[in-house]
Amino acid sequence: MSTPLNRRDWLKRNSLAAIALGFSLPSMANEEGLLRSFGAEKGLINLGSNENPYGISPKAKEALLGMLTEAHRYQFNVTSLGGFEKELSQYYKVSADQVIATAGSGEALMRLARHFNKGNLVTATPTFATLPNTAKKIGTKVTEVPLTKEKVHDLPAMMRAMDNNTKLVYICNPANPSSTVLPKQALKDFCIEASKNAIVVIDEAYIDFLPDPESETMIPLIDKHPNIIVVRTFSKIHAMAGLRVGFIVGHPAIIRELDEDNFYYSQLNISNLTLSAALASLKDEAHRLSCKQKNAEARSYTINALAGMNYKCIPSSTNFIFFPLGNYPGDFSKDMLQKNVILRSNTYPDGKWGRVSLGTMDEMKQFISLMKS
Ligand SMILES: Cc1ncc(COP(=O)(O)O)c(C=O)c1O
Repeated sequence: MSTPLNRRDWLKRNSLAAIALGFSLPSMANEEGLLRSFGAEKGLINLGSNENPYGISPKAKEALLGMLTEAHRYQFNVTSLGGFEKELSQYYKVSADQVIATAGSGEALMRLARHFNKGNLVTATPTFATLPNTAKKIGTKVTEVPLTKEKVHDLPAMMRAMDNNTKLVYICNPANPSSTVLPKQALKDFCIEASKNAIVVIDEAYIDFLPDPESETMIPLIDKHPNIIVVRTFSKIHAMAGLRVGFIVGHPAIIRELDEDNFYYSQLNISNLTLSAALASLKDEAHRLSCKQKNAEARSYTINALAGMNYKCIPSSTNFIFFPLGNYPGDFSKDMLQKNVILRSNTYPDGKWGRVSLGTMDEMKQFISLMKS
């Protein structure tokens, strides 16, 4: 039986999640909201975690149900799961020894920060915090290079920030929380140059929301440039955030090294159910396209509506929107929580900013009408 969380536990748990998402505790919630659940059943609209509101693919649902009869088995005893990494690698046009599956890409990011710990890390600020925070926690020096005025990674400044001791570079493209995407060629050139001296990790959690993800991914660089690593997730376009699966694509030598940290070189940290759902979801292009299209509609509606209220949003390439709050007098996310909307806000050197995830069109209409009120 589950026991109700007390206020302090709830605060602790959710403040950690908020920090991982790149936002500080004060922006996370207000005391008044702490004891409420995070779900729609309590009348809350959750636009705080960049989830996909359309749910998992019907094919993934079917696969999950089918796999229930194998839930008592280890995955190496389930024949249909034996080819997971092979199928994944075929889908992404790499070889099976170039991928390693993880329990969400968060696990991949933490693992990379811990593994490549013999030097400093260069990254952006603000950025998705899991990898930099893990690095800081284990004593790695982290150099944080501010995004440009347009909220894009400042690649020349990041290159200048690298020194002889730089072991790792982390870039989230498209970026979180700013939702911007780097010009493809500039990022490629950067990856090739920087990877001569350090491991370059490109986090492509949101790449599937771009018009042509295949042409934007850095995965094809991996063959010739063994220090480049790409991290992907099933949490966003596949809507599988609660199922926890992501993966790392890299040179076979790096994948082998990382695999040694795994229990008997296995993916036992990912459940049979999750693996089966991921395999089925890969085959449901139609569901992904439909999510992407609905996301794009909700995005242009929201950006236009916010523009009508004089909020100049950063052009978004993702399933969330980043916008300056001008001289908003209070704590924006606290105030929105009073109106039953969960979103993020924070204060940066250039002022206050909000980040709202894209929910369904209905949810975004409610959000906009609350903003107007
Ligand atoms: C840029 C980025 N990378 C990685 C993650 C982690 O996602 P997951 O662990 O669910 O794969 C997130 C989650 O929001 C994210 O925004």
